[in-house]
Amino acid sequence: RAEVVINGSSSPAVVDRSNESVKHNIQPGLSKWRHNQTLSLRIRKQILKFLDAEKDISVLKGTLKPGDIIHYIFDRDSTMNVSQNLYELLPRTSPLKNRHFRTCAIVGNSGVLLNSGCGQEIDTHSFVIRCNLAPVQEYARDVGLKTDLVTMNPSVIQRAFEDLVNATWREKLLQRLHSLNGSILWIPAFMARGGKERVEWVNELILKHHVNVRTAYPSLRLLHAVRGYWLTNKVHIKRPTTGLLMYTLATRFCNEIYLYGFWPFPLDQNQNPVKYHYYDSLKYGYTSQASPHTMPLEFKALKSLHEQGALKLTVGQCD
Ligand code: CTP
Repeated sequence: RAEVVINGSSSPAVVDRSNESVKHNIQPGLSKWRHNQTLSLRIRKQILKFLDAEKDISVLKGTLKPGDIIHYIFDRDSTMNVSQNLYELLPRTSPLKNRHFRTCAIVGNSGVLLNSGCGQEIDTHSFVIRCNLAPVQEYARDVGLKTDLVTMNPSVIQRAFEDLVNATWREKLLQRLHSLNGSILWIPAFMARGGKERVEWVNELILKHHVNVRTAYPSLRLLHAVRGYWLTNKVHIKRPTTGLLMYTLATRFCNEIYLYGFWPFPLDQNQNPVKYHYYDSLKYGYTSQASPHTMPLEFKALKSLHEQGALKLTVGQCD
């Protein structure tokens, strides 16, 4: 039986950054992309050997109690105590329990989305996943509005909300949270010790202002399990990005998966500059050795899956 070939090579890809965007060329309108249902199911089955999105998407209330001690995943020597607020916000059952969707969109944050006109298309998908509380209102034409799940790395509170230094920033975050209006807010709370206070601030805001979101806090094993799956498939990632985590989880409950805003390169397919994020002035960090991510390598794997019909990558304009 044919195996899924993701990377196509047994050694980590050597990335030549000079003409990367050319190398990764995906003809948007011209490609005859067709969904490969058999392959998607096979990938789902393989991933299920490493993790189960239904369970690993969040720690549940029954499994922890206030005061429990947790070792951070990346800082094993540091611990946190499960606070009363965190405990209150843990879901009783998985937010994805028995959920299945015909099509899902995963919206990455690359500037390649600007002027894509993809908003409408994104909003037609049954389930839309977004990353790191990226703004939508001002960019609706290109990124859409529908949000069923949005992630929030604790660092976002520092980067996009000035660590809530004053009432104005607290209000901004509160408005953003209110706008989620019942969707799932996915907070990796147990990854690194640096996020401790930021997670607590957000938890407190949600409870104090009765924000209508369904909080989820990924399981302690998720990250290693996802990394394990990709390493087994010869994709030598250091630490999976939020985008790759979302794709890996989505295989469990989405029949067809469509990726937008995944483009970790400074030039687009026509050699025009692309912003790292569509909404801020953050610069490319993936080339630095210090970055925990290997985005171009991840992209290569996703592109290979696109070519095999397991997912669809859109990196240009929507029709
Ligand atoms: N992404 C991409 N190309 C970019 C920027 C982002 O492919 N130029 C994808 C990545 O998969 C990333 C996701 O979009 O994880 C969300 O972007 P971002 O919020 O920037 O995530 P990061 O903070 O860069 O990374 P992470 O949250 O995974 O630490």
